[in-house]
Amino acid sequence: MKYRIRFVIACLINIMLVTIVHSISLEVIDQASVYIKHVIKTQKNVISFIADKRGDSYLIKQNNKKKNGVFSLNSQFKMVRELFGSLVVQYLGIKGHRVCLIPAGMPYPGKQYAALLATLHSIVPGSSLSKSYKRLYRNVFIKQWSLGRGRKLKNCGLSLEVIHSMAMHSMLPDIVALDTYIGNNDRSRSNLFEHNNILYVIDMDCSLSYNLAYLACCQLITLKNNNCLNPPELAALKHYRYALERYVKKCRIENLRALFDNACAQAGFIEGGVFAQGLHLVHKHRQILEENYQSVLELIEVLRSFEDDYSVQNALPYALHKI
Ligand SMILES: Nc1ncnc2c1ncn2[C@@H]1O[C@H](COP(=O)(O)OP(=O)(O)O)[C@@H](O)[C@H]1O
Ligand SMILES: [Mg+2]
Repeated sequence: MKYRIRFVIACLINIMLVTIVHSISLEVIDQASVYIKHVIKTQKNVISFIADKRGDSYLIKQNNKKKNGVFSLNSQFKMVRELFGSLVVQYLGIKGHRVCLIPAGMPYPGKQYAALLATLHSIVPGSSLSKSYKRLYRNVFIKQWSLGRGRKLKNCGLSLEVIHSMAMHSMLPDIVALDTYIGNNDRSRSNLFEHNNILYVIDMDCSLSYNLAYLACCQLITLKNNNCLNPPELAALKHYRYALERYVKKCRIENLRALFDNACAQAGFIEGGVFAQGLHLVHKHRQILEENYQSVLELIEVLRSFEDDYSVQNALPYALHKI
């Protein structure tokens, strides 16, 4: 009985969360007048840009990566990660695209493979930093690489280069903190848009890739000994900590779990769902979510002590000078 009540409460919270968070739905487009503007293929995805006669534009994204000639469960789970990441973005009030899911088996204008999952995205304004003519944006590098493929620790996670870039725009610490918070290792310049000096995030399908908060802890411990950060970088790091503290308060672990479970359920990655054979992917990514969250709590402590140590180290030469 106790469990049943708990289950009902959890479901109610889930429904409330999703109603609050969802701002686009499959009804946003006027299906009678919709037309496909153009289609692009990236390395892993096929993306159709659609519009209707009212002038509203959206895009449909599908992962078209195959393994041995068939679409893999991993490719389908990418859309769960896209939805999860975007729900967190929206929950935290960060500027970025809004996403909803188009279920497997449902045809939709611009959906290339009706039998598979797809995501419907709102279009963000402006252009990506990779296409920006402004020199400032050409030098931004905030991708937090995972370890592996022969990469050195110094180039992964919250590297010196990422901290350096974070200082270039007041919105970047929040965005870097978001990626750390949800383990998204794919924030290249093409996945960050700019319009009137406001930054917008897109492409969240690499959320829950890796425990990036743990990597950030490792980086900070190394950086502590090198004393190599300048004042703007230290200020950006402080803003990064403030952002993490806000995220932990606003979107707590229960909320993250609910958003993740909801994304899995909508896509059919549940017992008895269309992708029930992919439950191992649910477990794998849920574990990353749990571990990354625990590491975020440690990271906040590491950042605090980092700031304290840095201010002591920088005060030392001054104190010695006085003696
Ligand atoms: N919400 C969006 N608003 C505007 N353009 C977008 C949006 N989403 C994707 N695009 C465009 O499509 C490209 C590929 O989309 P993206 O989601 O990044 O796919 P991939 O995961 O293959 O990199 C982006 O680099 C961008 O130019
Ligand atoms: Mg991309």
